[in-house]
Amino acid sequence: MSKRVVMVAAVARNRVIGNGPDIPWRVPGEQAEFKRLTMGEILVMGRTTYESIGRPLPGRTTIVLTRDREWSAEGVLVAHSFLDALARAALLPGEVIVVGGAQVYAEAMPLASEQIISEIPLEPEGDAFYPEIDPAQWEVVDREPFEGYERVTWLRRSRL
Ligand SMILES: NC(=O)c1ccc[n+]([C@@H]2O[C@H](COP(=O)([O-])OP(=O)(O)OC[C@H]3O[C@@H](n4cnc5c(N)ncnc54)[C@H](OP(=O)(O)O)[C@@H]3O)[C@@H](O)[C@H]2O)c1
Repeated sequence: MSKRVVMVAAVARNRVIGNGPDIPWRVPGEQAEFKRLTMGEILVMGRTTYESIGRPLPGRTTIVLTRDREWSAEGVLVAHSFLDALARAALLPGEVIVVGGAQVYAEAMPLASEQIISEIPLEPEGDAFYPEIDPAQWEVVDREPFEGYERVTWLRRSRL
């Protein structure tokens, strides 16, 4: 059986999450919190996001999604579909945390049960966007202020 899927993202007011390969802001406390949330867990990310980071993040298992059968990188696992990534993650210790980018968030949202969103109070230019969260499907269960952003936790509404 596959594990539950948690999405973690930093999202600006205009839903921008990236501009080219970059994230168009710097909120150091948010990066530290990302590290704390993800340490020891399994990160699922798109090949574009992986290449913009440029290395596996230490202390975490990285599964990179690509359709390129030839692609590989040292220290990461490769999956060729989202379900393939989940099947691989099922055999490993840790939570499955989807960490972007835009394409991968859009694919993960229908399968996810939790979203942890750092709301960044900016409206930067960008070309990568977080998908809309449907309030009929998701509810906010926690909102916590941090320095320079707010962390909002969404849970999928029960289907009962
Ligand atoms: N603010 C944040 O929290 C945050 C977090 C992460 C990333 N970002 C930003 O997001 C942007 C990148 O997002 P993006 O949408 O361009 O790229 P992405 O989602 O990181 O990666 C897209 C690539 O992943 C692979 N892929 C996606 N779905 C797949 C599937 N179902 N099966 C197999 N492979 C799959 C494909 O790789 P191939 O082309 O190799 O087939 C695809 O081109 C950057 O600006 C980055 O900085 C922001």
